[in-house]
Order: sequence, then C-alpha cells, then structure tokens
Amino acid sequence: MPEDAQDVREIVRERYAAAARGARSGASCCGDEVKDSCGGGVFGDALYAAGASAGAPHEAVAASLGCGVPTAVADLHEGETVLDLGSGAGADVLISARRVGPAGRVIGLDMTDEMLVLARENAERAGAANAEFVKGHIEDIPLAGATVDVVISNCVINLSGDKPAVLREAARVLRPGGRLAVSDVIADPGMDAATRSDMQQWTGCIAGALTREEFEHALAAAGFAEIEIRETHRVHEHAAAAIVRAVKPTGRCCSPEALASCCEPAAKAGCCGGAAETAPASCGCSAR
Ligand SMILES: C[S@@+](CC[C@H](N)C(=O)[O-])C[C@H]1O[C@@H](n2cnc3c(N)ncnc32)[C@H](O)[C@@H]1O
Repeated sequence: MPEDAQDVREIVRERYAAAARGARSGASCCGDEVKDSCGGGVFGDALYAAGASAGAPHEAVAASLGCGVPTAVADLHEGETVLDLGSGAGADVLISARRVGPAGRVIGLDMTDEMLVLARENAERAGAANAEFVKGHIEDIPLAGATVDVVISNCVINLSGDKPAVLREAARVLRPGGRLAVSDVIADPGMDAATRSDMQQWTGCIAGALTREEFEHALAAAGFAEIEIRETHRVHEHAAAAIVRAVKPTGRCCSPEALASCCEPAAKAGCCGGAAETAPASCGCSAR
C-alpha cells in the first residue's frame, strides 16, 4: 500500500478511469470489476429497487458502482441544492435532480475525467438541466462554504486516503442545518491485515473503510451532530454496506423555555445546534 494519500488517489483514479472506459464502450460492466475484487458483495445497479432510480437513464444506473441508494434516505425537497461526492456515472445526481425539481440544483463532483464524460452523456440523455458535473477532489471541494443543503455520496469516502479532510469539507460546504446522507462501506473492527494492505481491496471499496466507531468519531470531529449509522447488507467477509446520516448543527441558541428543560436534552435538540452536547457554550445548551 502506498504511504502517501495522493499516491492512493492516483491508483484509485486509474481504476475508475478504466471502469468508465469499459462502461462507455459496453465492453464490460464496471460493476462487475468491483464485485470481482470484493468477494461477491452486493454493489451497483442491483441495489436500486423499481422506482428508486426515476430520473436516471438506464445507462447511468447500469454503470453504478455504489453500495447503497443514498437518495432513498436523503429526504430531498424541491428547490434544494445537492452535492454528490464521487458522482461516477451520475445515477444518484440524476435521481436527485428529478427530486429537487427545476428550482433545485445538483452538483456531481468527481476527479476522474472519464467518469465525468460518462456522467455528462447520461445527464444529456436524462435532459437534466439542473444537474452539473464538476472536476475536483472530495478532500478539497471546489465550492464556497455554506452553499449546499444536502451532501450525498455512494461508496466513495472509503476510497480516500484522507477521510477527516473529506468530512471537514462536507461540513464546510453545508449550510447550517444541512444534511449528510451517505452510503458507504463500514469495516468490521477485526478486519485482517492482509485485506487492509491489499490495494485491489482498497480500490474495490473494502480495505480503506472506517469502522463504525472511527466513522462516528470522524463525523463528530468534523462538527456533525445527530449521527446515525445503519448497516444495510454484507459486502465482504469483513465489511458491510451502511447508510450514514448526520446533520450540520444550526448553532442557534435556545430560547429560555428550552433552556429551562434542564434534564431533557432532546427538548433542546432543535435549537441547540442539533444536539445539546455540540451547541456553542455561549448558548448555555448543556446536556444537563
Ligand atoms: C466506487 S465509485 C462510485 C461512483 C458513484 N458514486 C456510484 O454510486 O456509482 C467511486 C467514484 O469516486 C471517484 N473518486 C474516488 N476518489 C475520489 C476523490 N478523492 N475525489 C474525487 N472523486 C473521487 C471515482 O472517480 C469514482 O467515480
């Protein structure tokens, strides 16, 4: 395994460039490559139930390399701005574009030129005028702070060599009260060293996965609250796919009435930044 996060990123980029070329030529389904290296776990289009992919053309869903369906839990509303970290062939962007409607906007961010070409072709097929695909790194998101309502991602954060930076950046671009809804792989605490050091297992979304505890800590360190991680299905002997949800606290202070409810932290949740424990000290929003 390369020591340097940028070297890891370059190997990941090469792997997904090849996958995108395969999908465009029709020579191979990129989902099959991931499945092969991941010991037969469930990835890709098989995860989209009937109706769950409305808005995305068949080609985008068929080229999906995700490990879940983040749009199924992102609770998107008309007019919202959505950012998809590592948007690949664009299926989740195009599904989101349909949900947020013409008044909304969806941005797919990906570092791989070949994936961006594929995604833009799929956006054209879908006629999605409110979707755009931007080149960049998820560790250094090329968007201004507090401009996004919902960050989604499907099986990408595990691929990064600097996951704390990805989560910090996600928190930065979200508006206060903004939501994170991500499908990703969660490693079992006992994932063996051989799997961890296998670069093919890394590019196949397994070896770089955080454990549940590590993911929770990284989200809290990035400033997220209301953190929820729910396992959906096994993808490997030592790993499962999961839905990860969290909220960027509003930082709003509590009313005197909410503060008076001193023994019920839940009563303060809406005004104390999502969780009394993470509220600014100046709000007096202590948990007890
Ligand atoms: C496993 S595929 C998932 C693609 C898509 N989310 C889906 O569900 O089909 C990973 C994607 O993330 C992109 N990617 C991986 N690491 C990245 C990084 N550090 N910055 C930007 N894009 C990245 C790859 O180019 C690839 O398109």
